[in-house]
Amino acid sequence: MKHLLLNNSRKIPILGLGTWKAKPGDVGEAVRTALKAGYRHIDCAAIYFNEDEIGQALTDSFNQGICKREDIFVTSKLWIDQKDTVQSALQQSLQDLQLDYLDMYLIHWPVNVKKGVKFGEWDKDSFLPENHSETWAQMESCVQKGLTTGIGVSNYSSKRIEEILKTASIKPAINQIERHPYLQRDELVSYCRSQNIAVTAYSPLGSKDRHPSVKDENEPSLLHNEVVNAVAERNECTAGQVLLNWQIQHGCITIPKSTNAGRLKQNLEAADFSLSEDDMKQLNALEQGFRYVDARFFCPKGSPYTLDILWDGM
Ligand code: A2P
Repeated sequence: MKHLLLNNSRKIPILGLGTWKAKPGDVGEAVRTALKAGYRHIDCAAIYFNEDEIGQALTDSFNQGICKREDIFVTSKLWIDQKDTVQSALQQSLQDLQLDYLDMYLIHWPVNVKKGVKFGEWDKDSFLPENHSETWAQMESCVQKGLTTGIGVSNYSSKRIEEILKTASIKPAINQIERHPYLQRDELVSYCRSQNIAVTAYSPLGSKDRHPSVKDENEPSLLHNEVVNAVAERNECTAGQVLLNWQIQHGCITIPKSTNAGRLKQNLEAADFSLSEDDMKQLNALEQGFRYVDARFFCPKGSPYTLDILWDGM
């Protein structure tokens, strides 16, 4: 497996297992199967409500000698109602994941709501102004205390990263963003590169298993795209492998979610071949500015966020 060297001198496997939407009851088995198949990077978050089951699967896998703690890279993310209690939120994730430290802790969204406000139950009075430097200082203190070896952000624009950099003593190591051939984020990726911040691509396969309430019926399918499938046929691989290999060849970390043993295996194998320059060009030409996760759920009536504000023109 190829690795990227992060700006904190840690190496991260370029392909990891995504656990967003992996259901309790399925996710533990998926993690066990993934580790047995050779995955060494697991992407988690408190808001996925499955970290406890992942924790048990990690412990079982360590006990069975499938891998050691130090061989794997585990990420978790700070949810938006915990911005002023970063350490206790991280410690809760550690407890659930049955770990002593994380490899990466990310601020999940540049959105701040009052403590205890549940997902989607926010109204105009739920939102608080962001204080990027204060939250970042708390993230840094978690590194200093050894709770995580790295820190970063997710869904951040270059402008918001600039806000953090004004006062940061530790630079974000990663910006995790939606990225795939329909939404390539060239400017943001270039900006992150210029700052030595690695990019992790989420929804690399189009996240077709999103909840119907946040999904348009007629959204374009990456996996059924004609060009993607023609490239797959030429390379005798699957459409999913084409989409993952495209990320890797662009130097982006990626975290496809699967709870299916066959697809877990084929996704991991996507790191083992190369697409030609011409295949890459054809895939690059698929850009259409289409977001699967447009985060309209943060923009109810009265919310200070609109999609323009949230995405900051990126
Ligand atoms: P499953 O978990 O049953 O494998 P994303 O990573 O973009 O969020 O996409 C995840 C979705 O894509 C899930 O529905 C997952 O289903 C499916 N999926 C994962 N790997 C593949 C693959 N190689 N080919 C087709 N679908 C896949």
